[in-house]
Amino acid sequence: MYYSRTGNNRTIAKAIAEKLSADIDEIVDKKNRQGKLNWLLAGRDSRAKKLTEIEYQKNPQDYDTIIIGAPIWAWNPIPPLRTYLQKVDLSGKRVAFFICSKSEAYINMFPQLAEMTPESEHVGNFGIQEHRFLSEDYSAELDEFIEKIK
Ligand SMILES: Cc1cc2nc3c(=O)[nH]c(=O)nc-3n(C[C@H](O)[C@H](O)[C@H](O)COP(=O)(O)O)c2cc1C
Repeated sequence: MYYSRTGNNRTIAKAIAEKLSADIDEIVDKKNRQGKLNWLLAGRDSRAKKLTEIEYQKNPQDYDTIIIGAPIWAWNPIPPLRTYLQKVDLSGKRVAFFICSKSEAYINMFPQLAEMTPESEHVGNFGIQEHRFLSEDYSAELDEFIEKIK
């Protein structure tokens, strides 16, 4: 499962799905997040820990392991991810998170995401800074993450 506004986390999600031959699904935020004003509002909503209206296709109950990725907005788990984690029941599921963000803010985000899914078994986290995602070969780190999930 992934949310991506500008494609970075989508690229990582696709790479993971391909390597694991896993199903892939997108969390769609029904609130328009494109454009300068919506960028500001996205940050504000995230900082305020707001929920939003989302759409997705796959039912997590059909899976043992759910890998969830999204960016960070305003030092917080983003509203569509917050909403998804509140909506679905991931208790007893193996759960892994990945984040591509501008800074290393993902380091603080993983414990928060684990707290938001207290009944899940947390099997791995993968975080990468945007500049490394864009310019470096991070496949060894991604492979290490994938090995933990298998
Ligand atoms: C409104 C907004 C707020 C953001 N706030 C943060 C932040 O607090 N920390 C951070 O590291 N990156 C922040 N970012 C950057 C995104 O996390 C980063 O660009 C990410 O790679 C985008 O992923 P995507 O292409 O999958 O949407 C913010 C981006 C937006 C749009």
